[in-house]
Amino acid sequence: MRSQQTNIISFQNVGLTFRGNTRLFSNINLNIREGDFYFLTGLSGAGKSTLLKLIYMGIAPTDGSVSLFGEDPKQMTSNDLPRLRRKMGIIFQDFRLLPHLTALENVALPLKVRGIDHPKATSQAQDLLAWVGLEHVMNQYPATLSGGQQQRVAITRAIMGRPSLLLADEPTGNVDEEAAGKIMHLFEELHKTGTTIVLATHNRSLAKEFNHPEIFLKKGQAFLLNRKPRLQEGGI
Ligand SMILES: Nc1ncnc2c1ncn2[C@@H]1O[C@H](COP(=O)(O)OP(=O)(O)OP(=O)(O)O)[C@@H](O)[C@H]1O
Ligand SMILES: [Mg+2]
Repeated sequence: MRSQQTNIISFQNVGLTFRGNTRLFSNINLNIREGDFYFLTGLSGAGKSTLLKLIYMGIAPTDGSVSLFGEDPKQMTSNDLPRLRRKMGIIFQDFRLLPHLTALENVALPLKVRGIDHPKATSQAQDLLAWVGLEHVMNQYPATLSGGQQQRVAITRAIMGRPSLLLADEPTGNVDEEAAGKIMHLFEELHKTGTTIVLATHNRSLAKEFNHPEIFLKKGQAFLLNRKPRLQEGGI
């Protein structure tokens, strides 16, 4: 049985000010626990991608602290990051596929990094790519794929290694309604197996279709909609 106790992500009084003194976030408190599924919403420019970047430690907050998988950020060094990242799947808004690898090789890579042998990694990657409707393009390089196809490759790559934490940035932004439904179904199935998910979208009607709480970013603050009793007062 999965634990509902562990904080996978914890923000304590997090503030972020960019160089040049532009302030994006102030005093954000949030605790996301193992097995949670949150939508992260807000208008374009509200800070969804940047908040995800704080979570995967692509940047550090200028105030407060972010802890991941219960580890004390003060004790962490950059050497700890690869170990933490191996537990995460990240779907970037701009995909970030490796251009010199085919779709299939991109998707198989996280399995190989985890020590799975080449034939097994390739066969699992082929199966999942076929399931998302990409069997006919899996040997092509990213530059020869459409935006929606690249997005599905990025999604497949992120979930391939069965991450404990999935961060998805606008994962249905470039695909048609049918593919979006399939992708959401995939995330729901992953969530049922225990994966913690934070899914950023500016599409609040998408968020409303599903029974998951929503973190709504506005004017540098985070508001929780569908408040659950375990969340802190005075923030999330
Ligand atoms: N390194 C940076 N330096 C200065 N400003 C930045 C930097 N990174 C992000 N910003 C600003 O922070 C704000 C939030 O950007 P972010 O990309 O997180 O928004 P978003 O909610 O993901 O938007 P979208 O829905 O368009 O993807 C924007 O105004 C952006 O210009
Ligand atoms: Mg964004």
